[in-house]
Amino acid sequence: MLNKNAITIERHIIDQQERHPGATGALTRLLHQIALSSKMITHEVRRAGLLDILGDAGHTNVQDEDVQKLDVIADEVIYRNLDHAGVLCCMASEERAKMIPIPSQFDCGKYTLAFDPLDGSTNIDANVSVGTIFSVHRKISPGERGTEEDLLQPGYKQVVAGYVVYGSSTIMVYTAGHGVQGFTLEPSIGEFLLSHPNIRIPKRGKIFSVNMGNYHYWTKGVQKYVDYLTTPDKEGKKPYTSRYIGSMVADVHRTLLYGGIFMYPLDMKDPKKPRGKLRMLYEAAPMAKVIEQAGGLATNGTESLLEIVPRDLHERTPLFVGSYDDVMEVGEYIKKYDAEKA
Ligand code: AHG
Ligand code: MN
Ligand code: MN
Repeated sequence: MLNKNAITIERHIIDQQERHPGATGALTRLLHQIALSSKMITHEVRRAGLLDILGDAGHTNVQDEDVQKLDVIADEVIYRNLDHAGVLCCMASEERAKMIPIPSQFDCGKYTLAFDPLDGSTNIDANVSVGTIFSVHRKISPGERGTEEDLLQPGYKQVVAGYVVYGSSTIMVYTAGHGVQGFTLEPSIGEFLLSHPNIRIPKRGKIFSVNMGNYHYWTKGVQKYVDYLTTPDKEGKKPYTSRYIGSMVADVHRTLLYGGIFMYPLDMKDPKKPRGKLRMLYEAAPMAKVIEQAGGLATNGTESLLEIVPRDLHERTPLFVGSYDDVMEVGEYIKKYDAEKA
């Protein structure tokens, strides 16, 4: 039985809209469609382990139809739920090389959507949590249809940002610029219920999260910082512990709830071509917005991730997100040891 105080995501979004008298309802519709998409993706993800019996990507299923990879299915679900909603002027997906226009038969709206349909998808065969990440900007170009210019805006201009984790339960976490709210899917009634109102990240944490296998490719500043986190102090105490799932959504979600730091530092394997792995539009900017709205900090090591203006839809960046004090601290190490290279 539902508690009489249970708040569905629909009610929450409408309550928010009513606080803004000029609102047209477009954002409300957009969030509805994202919530709907994540319920549909939950359904697909929950059947993931059955692909071996029912057919796998590149194979055919029992009906002799091609079975698509889950990232492609998730990408289609989001696109199909939003192309005709009249709220977007264009979209961009991690799964597609180019900007996605709104088909000419449908009306254009005043927002853009950038999304990572299935983050962490390489983990799916091991039953590890995966997720969806989304980022919404207001259209700025003058024409009726959207352009890349509308998508290539800095993160601080995001109107809405959030993610969904398909984990032991499905949770949708988002911000519309007034704090961060989390909604857990109640599967028996198919509703997202407010389970984590006004999430605040601890000012300092005790967990660091990074792919330690890349240690030798990091800059000196990041190596020194991780050495500091893993070396016991004079009293023999080691305050930090390590957790790394390898699905950004799940690692960031844990960081948001428990505090600490999640990082994907610059990779110096080829010193002539230092590179970040995570994508600015689909991963870094939306997660940065959520973390900062919860009181945390998000940088590329030297500057705020939210200030960076992306030049390319698939631009990558180094990333440090989490508790304010922890992210400040790694910044100090980078400043001290890597400054001359910056
Ligand atoms: P995606 O599955 O969308 O391509 O993203 C994978 C990303 C991210 O989820 C994760 O944090 C990171 O890749 C893991 O990378 P490593 O395997 O290099 O640690
Ligand atoms: Mn991803
Ligand atoms: Mn992905």
